[in-house]
Amino acid sequence: MNDTKILIIGACGQIGSELTLKLREIYGTENVIASDIRKGEQDVFKTGPFEIVDAMNYEQVEALVNKYKVDEVYLMAALLSATAEKNPAFAWDLNMNSLFHVLNLAKDKKIKKIFWPSSIAVFGPTTPKQNTPQYTVMEPSTVYGISKQAGERWCEYYFNKYGVDVRSIRYPGLISWKTPPGGGTTDYAVDIYYKAVSDNNYTCFLSENTELPMMYMDDAIRATIGIMQAKAEDIKIRSAYNLAAMSFTPKEIAVAIAKEKSGFKISYEPDFRQAIADSWPSSIDDSAAANDWNWKPEYNLENMTKVMLENLSK
Ligand code: SER
Repeated sequence: MNDTKILIIGACGQIGSELTLKLREIYGTENVIASDIRKGEQDVFKTGPFEIVDAMNYEQVEALVNKYKVDEVYLMAALLSATAEKNPAFAWDLNMNSLFHVLNLAKDKKIKKIFWPSSIAVFGPTTPKQNTPQYTVMEPSTVYGISKQAGERWCEYYFNKYGVDVRSIRYPGLISWKTPPGGGTTDYAVDIYYKAVSDNNYTCFLSENTELPMMYMDDAIRATIGIMQAKAEDIKIRSAYNLAAMSFTPKEIAVAIAKEKSGFKISYEPDFRQAIADSWPSSIDDSAAANDWNWKPEYNLENMTKVMLENLSK
């Protein structure tokens, strides 16, 4: 396993940056090539190989795969839900073309395995909201959700037609203190911790009772590496797996923060992101991931809140 060469596209983003460091720990620094459209001020390019790449440019991605004899690609580059609504055509181009490039590299046997992230955004207003099943009505109403839903179909198609070993997870909102998120609807649950530490108050862009599925980044990274290391025959779902850890509302996260930081205050000024959040599930049934590849979360709202505040206060 230690000779596996891994390419991460979108390595400077919220997930990519932590994933890169974890994969380097496991597979060795030189075996994990980080790439992104630009260099951020990130540990990712100080701790190992780093390349500039445009995920929409097939030749550039292929050149990297050839240069490093890449076995596995983690495609983390994407426009998230809120940003995608402001630039639908570009979001569709980036989210879909980058996926096709990587799927085609695997179809042509230039790489062996793909990780591609899906999202709770594949669900829509007609989906059952509580304990949303793996298989259910899916009518996403956001550009981001439409691209993830279409992407899931293509992943399954490439697996069935061409035997491409592609694996995917429907991430809930992800919360971390290391790299800020960019342009998602669930980002409030990260911003709130930053503001709790700096100002002891926060104005939330979602309303107080908007319940969404969420996860601490350490769990998300464990799930990502877990599904990639699972035996191919254990991966029964080749679209994307439901994944869950916790669900809460802005009001509930504010209460959890106030227990650690007395006097913390929240106020609400919902904007266009409210409609996006309202179209998504409140909680997720992830029993297929638990059964097929032993998924189990470790963080809940309480222990995550402690870790977030502790680290952001340093
Ligand atoms: N966290 C993402 C977003 O809010 C959902 O996948 O866009």
